[in-house]
Amino acid sequence: MNILIASSISKHAIEKLTENHDVICAFNAPEEKLMSLAGDRDVIIFRSGVKISAKVMGAAPNLKYLIRAGSGLDNLDVEYSNERGLQLVRIPEPGAKAVAELSFAFMLALSRNLIYANQEWKKGHWVKGEFKGYLLRGKVLGVIGAGNIGSLVGQMGSFWGMTVLGCVDDSEYTPEIKSDLTSKGIRLTTFDEVISNADYLTIHVPLMDSTRNLIDKNVLQKMKSGSYLINLARGGVVNEKDLLEELTKGDRLRGAALDVHENEGEGKVSPLASLPNVILTPHMGAQTVDSQREIGDRVLEEVDRFEKLLKQSEEPVTVNK
Ligand code: MLT
Repeated sequence: MNILIASSISKHAIEKLTENHDVICAFNAPEEKLMSLAGDRDVIIFRSGVKISAKVMGAAPNLKYLIRAGSGLDNLDVEYSNERGLQLVRIPEPGAKAVAELSFAFMLALSRNLIYANQEWKKGHWVKGEFKGYLLRGKVLGVIGAGNIGSLVGQMGSFWGMTVLGCVDDSEYTPEIKSDLTSKGIRLTTFDEVISNADYLTIHVPLMDSTRNLIDKNVLQKMKSGSYLINLARGGVVNEKDLLEELTKGDRLRGAALDVHENEGEGKVSPLASLPNVILTPHMGAQTVDSQREIGDRVLEEVDRFEKLLKQSEEPVTVNK
């Protein structure tokens, strides 16, 4: 098959695909470039950081399959892809484990001021006396979007001795989900209850019209005094202007950590960058060797499956007389 790999996936998967298929790699290329490469492609494989627009797919008349080597679909024109009848496969589970662990790492790093302590002691400053750390144990962890990733973070929090509150979108609520979350130590409740009780608020919802600016000035003002905010969902879910204002002028948040940003990519500097109580990382939640290897293996399985489907659809139909 003719495959366009539009994002960096694991090396072993690219090598394996190249053995059996015609592969073009153009990681995070702009729309025009993708359009010029997509002409004879059957499959596009992509992650975040690239836009798979209607124009890109429209430039690929043979395109049949889309593989999202991860979770979010905010960078794909889903409506167009559905209209075209393209087959779309997502591979969310391996990255979810890595994103959940990063949320936990953020909670620990914020509570113990690890980044600052490391920076100072490396310069020879013995800042021990300045430190006031906080325990996670005994605190309230609030999970906005207790789905695939959020429920894993919640479960980890519960094992750690935290009280865990979570919420899901009304459209996703079922009694089964509630009992599954309960079995993981997460009490399902309302959005308002989660935000106003959390000492650590971790966000794990997809970016959609309904979640854009979900965490804005009004929500930040309802958060507990001395709380922390963590965004591992998508830039745009947290209003960064409002967050900056709260962190500089307000008295609620003790700190924040963001792995996803309104503006992402080389050379972009967040307005939050100068704040010492903010940790910023480059959308690397799912970027562990383990998760990417697992995603790579799943991509190979999906390409094999698509190839079999394609062959079946091309086989001549024999009519029994
Ligand atoms: C995802 O949605 O899976 C993450 O953003 C990871 C990625 O694709 O880079």
